[in-house]
Parts: sequence; C-alpha cells; structure tokens
Amino acid sequence: MNKIVVTRRIPEEALGLLKKNGEVFVWDRDEEPIPHEVLLAEVKEAAGLFTNVGDRIDKELIDHAPKLKVISTMAVGYDNINVMEAASRGISVGHTPGVLTETTADLTFALLMAAARRVAEGSIYVRQGQWKSWGPMLLTGQDVYGATIGIIGMGRIGEGVARRAAGFSMNVLYHNRSRRPEIEENLNAAYCSLEELLKKSDFVVLLAPGSADTRHMIGKAEFELMKRNAVFVNASRGTNVDETALYTALENGDIWAAGLDVFEEEPVSMENPLLSLPNVTVLPHIGSATIATRTKMAVMAAQNLIAGLAGEELPFQVKLNKQ
Ligand code: GLV
Repeated sequence: MNKIVVTRRIPEEALGLLKKNGEVFVWDRDEEPIPHEVLLAEVKEAAGLFTNVGDRIDKELIDHAPKLKVISTMAVGYDNINVMEAASRGISVGHTPGVLTETTADLTFALLMAAARRVAEGSIYVRQGQWKSWGPMLLTGQDVYGATIGIIGMGRIGEGVARRAAGFSMNVLYHNRSRRPEIEENLNAAYCSLEELLKKSDFVVLLAPGSADTRHMIGKAEFELMKRNAVFVNASRGTNVDETALYTALENGDIWAAGLDVFEEEPVSMENPLLSLPNVTVLPHIGSATIATRTKMAVMAAQNLIAGLAGEELPFQVKLNKQ
C-alpha cells in the first residue's frame, strides 16, 4: 500500500478519502507544526505528501523522498514548494484554486475595514478599561465608502475584492501582469501602472502571488508614492513586502495604517517591530479559514493526491509556466 504523509490534522472527510487510498501518517498536534527532521524521516517511504503553507518543501526534502509521486498542498499558493525540483523528478504538484476565493476576499475586505476603522484597537481599548467617556475624536479612522481602492494582483481573489468594493461605491483601480477587460467592463475597474495606483489609492490591497519575482515588490520606493492617508492591506504573501520599509513608512506617517494577514516570517516573531505599532492590524494568515472552505480545500487536496498516486493528471495541477 502507498504511504501518504499528512503534515497537519485535516478534516475527517479528506482524511477518510486518503485512508481508502493508502497507509496514512498524520502529524496531528494542532498547535505544533511537524518538525522538519520528522518530515524528512517520514517522507522516505512516502508516495504522497499532503502539505500546507507552513511546510518548506525544498530540494533537500524531495531528495529524501525517492518514492514520491505527488505533493498536494491545501492552499492556492505554492511558493513554499520547489516546483521545478518536483517536476524534474516527475512528481506532480496539486493546489486548491477557486474554492477559497470568496472566503479570502471576505477576509481581505474585513482586514481593510478593520484597519480603516481601527476595529482591533477599539476592542483592546474597551477590554483594557480605557473607555471613560464618549469623545468627538476618539478612535477616528478613514472612510471606506466612496474611497479609491487600488488592487495589485487581479486574480480571482482580487476580482472578489473588487466586487465587494463596488458595493461600497469605491472607485476601483487595479494593476496586474495582464489587463482584464471583463473586469474593467463589469466592475468599472480602471487598469493603471503600479506607480499611478500607489499615488491615487486610499486603500492599497496586495494580492499578488508569492514568487522570486514578486519578492519585496512593495518597499521603500512604493510606500513613498502612497498617500499619507493610505491604508495598506496585504493578504497575499509576506515576502511580497519589505517589512522594514513598511515599518518605517508607518512610523514616519508616510502611510496611515496597515492590515496584515501575512508576514515575511510565519508565525511572526513577537520581536517584529510591526507588532509594536497601534496602526497595524494583524491576523495569523487566516484568509481562507472558514469551516466550510477549509473542508472543501482539504477534500480537493485529497482528490489531487489520490489522482497523483494513480499516475493520473491532477484535477488541479500546478502548471510550471504559472510559477
Ligand atoms: C493561503 O495562503 C493559500 O495560498 O491558500
């Protein structure tokens, strides 16, 4: 029987499917990721690897897995996987696009609104007993309704955010590798250069996939172009942003606030200076985290893995030219 390694506890529906198709090892300590040495040892005999965004699937790991046929990540992003190395060994790689689009767009918009209206700060203020009276200027924020939003990375999730923005009568700008005429038409979104988007937007929302090409795509020069009232939201990958430059921009008042679901290093270190700033709203990479969506993602990833074990094309296979 094929050995399948699962790096975290996953919903029963998905686990059940895997158990019918192999001998399954699950690392099931919820708060603790599988130690890299344990993963290296477990993949030695594995034909299938069910993974997630927190695992580093690098050349060393693939070298330790001579029997591996398929790597299936329970995520849309696969920047944590050395896809080229996998391809060179004939190992298929699967991911879970589409199913998490609306859930992640919801969270991105929630983060935007929370950062604009100081929701997390307000909650701490109340819980810490600081609320002594109603104040005319207490926790004043930025208006979302009618403001200009600039979306960097107009994929499925970007489109979902644009649809939500239309409901708030926002003026939608976007920047993407390629133009999306249907979005321009249907959502009244205007394509513009990155520079123009940064200069004009009240909300700058980053949704570009993580890759070597997008690493630090938003840094000092980009923050300097943004408005002083700008709220910056990152729900893509932490590595897309130069966090030192972000800290400086927030600290100097070059931009007004940030909402971050992702960090350069995850879990974020408590020493990360961004955590010391009240105008930063932070979340622990939970873009797609609803019960329903995570269940669908797990089942989809299990189906990818099972197809890979059978030597078939995966229903949602990562294509190399997409990298
Ligand atoms: C989460 O970040 C994902 O890529 O699905």
